[in-house]
Amino acid sequence: MLDKCVRDQWSIDDLDWTIPPPKMPRDKEEAVVQAFVDMAGIELLAGALFDVQRKKTADPTLRKIFSTFVADEKRHSAVAARLAQHYDVHHYRTYTESPALTDFRPHFLALVEKASPEIANAYITSGELILDVALLRSLDDYVADDMSARAMHLINRDESRHIAIDFHMTEHYCSDEHLAEIRSRPRPPVREMAAGVAALARMMWHAKPFLQQVFLAPMDRTDPSGRRVQEAFKRIQLVLRKPTVARTPWSKMMIGFQDLYNHPVIGKVLGRVLLRLLGAEDRAARILFTKEELARTERMSFDELAEEALAVKYS
Ligand SMILES: [Fe+2]
Ligand SMILES: [Fe+2]
Repeated sequence: MLDKCVRDQWSIDDLDWTIPPPKMPRDKEEAVVQAFVDMAGIELLAGALFDVQRKKTADPTLRKIFSTFVADEKRHSAVAARLAQHYDVHHYRTYTESPALTDFRPHFLALVEKASPEIANAYITSGELILDVALLRSLDDYVADDMSARAMHLINRDESRHIAIDFHMTEHYCSDEHLAEIRSRPRPPVREMAAGVAALARMMWHAKPFLQQVFLAPMDRTDPSGRRVQEAFKRIQLVLRKPTVARTPWSKMMIGFQDLYNHPVIGKVLGRVLLRLLGAEDRAARILFTKEELARTERMSFDELAEEALAVKYS
């Protein structure tokens, strides 16, 4: 994997930026430019998360792999910013990052820095699934232009490596060895635990508007059927419920909230609170998989799950 990471590096200038942008109606141009401006911000956030992962791993090869991922995400951010400029033909307005993304970033990074690496990994894996399987793919389809397609092709090549490692880390963090290590960790002092819970609550509070403004609202336009976003959420739910993943403390909590949300009575009464705790909205919290799909993913290896997530992106 490290060889691949080093070999497949590329630069923003490998793309031919002289391709003229297509003619778009005003509302489409504004939506496309805004989406790429936000994508630039999300890619930087992904880079920051991989940097945390890099610092938290003791394995020298993984550390080098994560360094290349940080570089990848910085490049994706630069490409997204350049695409925003490219499609900003009429300068209808000044574009700035969505406020929900700006508000969410510091709380998210604070949590991920403080939280254990398995929680950081759970968020990055989910984030990349939503970003890759749904957001970027549907944005590219919506733009339907060669410039975006060529850029996304190179970005996707990097993302395939990211998803493979995300799933590899998920498998590692729910292994018997790692769980034994979690159990052997000294219990943090009460003050530290309280600070951790407060950081988690702050992050959760900002997660829902972020998900809504930066992921779901743009996808209502680029993928009105909601097919891709539902597919991404379903994959997250299925990974979380793989028996080895489901036994970790974090997964137990999230599955517990989701089950309560889907309970016919409790879900009605506490629905809003539970959504806030999950950092999600109904489309993500509703049970999206069938019994057969659950049984099938339970049998699959993490490598197979990663492969399948990537295949869905191209379907
Ligand atoms: Fe990326
Ligand atoms: Fe990525």
